[in-house]
Amino acid sequence: MKIPSVVNSDKVLMLLTSDFVTARYEALRAQAPDLRIITEIESESDPDVTALFAFKLSAGIAPRLPNLRLAASVGAGADGILSAPDLPLHVKVTRAVEPGLGFSMAQYVAMLILKQFRSLPTMEEQHRKGEWKRLPIPDARQTTVGIMGLGSIGSVVANAVAALGFNVIGWARSDKGTTNVPVFVGAEGMDAFLRQSDYLVCLLPATPQTSGLLDRTCLSKLPRGSYLINVARGGILVEQDLLALVNEGHLSGAALDVFATEPLPPASAFWGNKKVFVTPHIAAQPSVSPVVDQFLDNLQRLADGEPLINEVDRRLGY
Ligand code: NDP
Ligand code: OXD
Repeated sequence: MKIPSVVNSDKVLMLLTSDFVTARYEALRAQAPDLRIITEIESESDPDVTALFAFKLSAGIAPRLPNLRLAASVGAGADGILSAPDLPLHVKVTRAVEPGLGFSMAQYVAMLILKQFRSLPTMEEQHRKGEWKRLPIPDARQTTVGIMGLGSIGSVVANAVAALGFNVIGWARSDKGTTNVPVFVGAEGMDAFLRQSDYLVCLLPATPQTSGLLDRTCLSKLPRGSYLINVARGGILVEQDLLALVNEGHLSGAALDVFATEPLPPASAFWGNKKVFVTPHIAAQPSVSPVVDQFLDNLQRLADGEPLINEVDRRLGY
């Protein structure tokens, strides 16, 4: 992507809170060598910084950037930026959207559903024992996968899982027609959606409305023996409620890629639970180059007074 000269008058703050952000920092430097990029604020207040490119923004930083106009998330979720209590309302927030994310997420979700559905652990055990035993093959058309959130990622996951033969249904705030699967909408549609979902896949954004949504009341409505896959954000799930329902046998298990505290603390009961499969927030990651391009494009749009791409609705929180 050609870097327009107007963008080079911006000064960008990148907060290197993880290797994930550092990789985007290095790519941005390589792609826009003349852009002023800093990784920490050099004085008490820096009026030259116009844009922030980060995954997590802690309190106390935004007030030191009086001319901040854009806070761009390097990730698909902007919750790590929106959760800063002192980010002024006039600052525009954007997030990463790119097709590769949906494909990676569909692979992760399909892998976890199929592991359970086709009894992969049992087959591996039989292999270890040298045992030839033909297991019955279940019919995917009789199994319902409920996808919560049918946005840029959830819609791709819904279509991919439907292509494997499962009966897929979705739940969202509205039916935007992004998939061919039946969509249950809002609070009124939730119970009917949950009561059918043998697998529940969470792909909602973390917002004040979704915080703690997957609690005992909600998860108890799933059919007995159902399986949860949370690939959205840890704060959407009440972890203790999930553990209790797994231990009581109401849920057959769960695959969790995201947690209230990351990295998942060594003392977490999830580590030792055979029915809970833990991965370290690796279900999907936006590819580096498209996200850096989107950021530079948005700097240009800001300078030109044009609408930004992938802007978050700050009122809705996603
Ligand atoms: P989008 O913003 O494109 O889609 C969000 C979806 O959730 C929409 O369908 C929206 O409904 C629905 N939704 C939002 N709020 C509610 C609510 N209160 N009740 C019902 N439905 C709601 O998000 P993406 O698909 O791009 O990403 C989803 C999330 O996935 C990200 O926010 C991030 O947290 C997570 N993620 C996790 C990764 C990982 O590696 N584990 C990687 C990437 C993303 P509507 O269509 O009506 O607006
Ligand atoms: C993201 C993530 O939001 O990695 O992109 O979770």
